[in-house]
Amino acid sequence: MAANPQFLKFVDDNQDHLIDRLAQAVAIPSVSGNLSYVKDVENMAEWLVQQLKALGATVEKRPIGKHTIEGQEVDLPPVVIGQVGSDPKKKTLLVYGHYDVQPALLEDGWKYPPFELTRDPEGSGRLFGRGATDDKGPVLGWLNVLDAHKQLGLELPVNLKMCFEGMEENGSENLDKFIESEKDKFFAGVDCMCISDNYWLDTKTPCLTYGLRGVNYYEIRINGPGRDLHSGVFGGTVHEPMTDLFAIMSKLVTPDGQILITGIKDLIAPVTEDERKKFEAIHFKLRDIEEAVGAPVTIYDDSIQTLMGRMRNPSLSLHGIEGAFSAPGSKTVIPASVKGKFSIRLVPNLTIKSVTDLVIKYVEEEFKKLGSKNKLEVVLTHGGEPWIADPNHYSYRAAHRATEAVYGQTPDYTREGGSIPVTLDFANILGLNVLLLPVGRGDDGAHSINEKIDTSNYINGTKLLGTYMYELAASNE
Ligand code: BES
Ligand code: MN
Ligand code: MN
Repeated sequence: MAANPQFLKFVDDNQDHLIDRLAQAVAIPSVSGNLSYVKDVENMAEWLVQQLKALGATVEKRPIGKHTIEGQEVDLPPVVIGQVGSDPKKKTLLVYGHYDVQPALLEDGWKYPPFELTRDPEGSGRLFGRGATDDKGPVLGWLNVLDAHKQLGLELPVNLKMCFEGMEENGSENLDKFIESEKDKFFAGVDCMCISDNYWLDTKTPCLTYGLRGVNYYEIRINGPGRDLHSGVFGGTVHEPMTDLFAIMSKLVTPDGQILITGIKDLIAPVTEDERKKFEAIHFKLRDIEEAVGAPVTIYDDSIQTLMGRMRNPSLSLHGIEGAFSAPGSKTVIPASVKGKFSIRLVPNLTIKSVTDLVIKYVEEEFKKLGSKNKLEVVLTHGGEPWIADPNHYSYRAAHRATEAVYGQTPDYTREGGSIPVTLDFANILGLNVLLLPVGRGDDGAHSINEKIDTSNYINGTKLLGTYMYELAASNE
């Protein structure tokens, strides 16, 4: 059938070489949005360019403007675009991934240095390192496919266009403008799109993902006294910003996850019977989630409700407070101004705007009730709309067959709780069907300590991405 045995054998025979490529990528600490790592993010882009060149792609590094980090204006990480093949008889596939990663410090509790890819000494096959699964492993999956074809002297079955960015973990600033401006240039002639930047739900069932929640990130800023104060001298005499902030933040969500902001529930699209069936068909046990989070702390005892909580319902999470006293010890300070941070994951039919209007109205009303003389500001720092695709498309069918060929298993069809806001930009601006084709497992620990990818997922993932290309090429839809 469509799978190419030569390609599959190459991947099996060259595992160490492919893992070494991942080790090189993980060794560059490309943490975006952090002044100390600006150079590393640039180096990572350059590393990708050199790799892609060596693999026979035409590559460009494109500047996309500037942004401010910690008060300093710096270049945004460049977008790396590459192309292999331009045969009008072949389908053209666009792939996207990100080469930036979340921060990681050994002190956070990592077992091994986060920027040294470390093979589990106990022989489980796990490869630990920041970015191993999010998203360097999957991005390198595409490079590995090119590598195999180059070394085997084989042509790719499709034309491949690649777009890799270095700001995904910080809201993909300006990438939408880049897509818009390159719509009829670099992105011209693309037939369909594949993104590998999410995960299986459990540790053994491959999946195809056709939806993502959006996310709105907010800051509640409360300004009071002109400077930090001594609580012995001024406690009991002034309105304290932290006290106001706690009062408000405690009114956003209940401990069992119910969002308290008036009006949000009414905007959620009703669950259809067909949708419920799709959720019921997913292989998923509460145990999977308990293992992934490391404790039996799920809100619901029911697995369908838990899945819906993750994929189908909005959620509100409290993230932190900037400006609060947080060092060890017991300093008796009244912080003069604080910023409370929270985000809301969005599902159809919630929009960035409709939710923001409700949030601002609600928070302002709650603040008024406090009778505080401090100043309040509610700011949306970034927003991304929810996305849902049609899984009844030839690209999904190709991925379905590729999954069966590589894993001998039928994939689950899932939606994700996480967000890749640029997915919707690609889908809307370029008018494309987008397929999310995950490589990693549900317990990989993206953003956590000890992030990993299993060797088998990295290797089979490479086979999957390549076989998907063959299946796409073979489909005459
Ligand atoms: N790879 C994730 C997205 C993701 C997370 C997909 C979990 C599926 C499950 C991506 O790198 C990410 O972390 N996205 C951010 C986006 C935010 C910074 C706008 C997220 O979801 O928090
Ligand atoms: Mn990612
Ligand atoms: Mn991420």
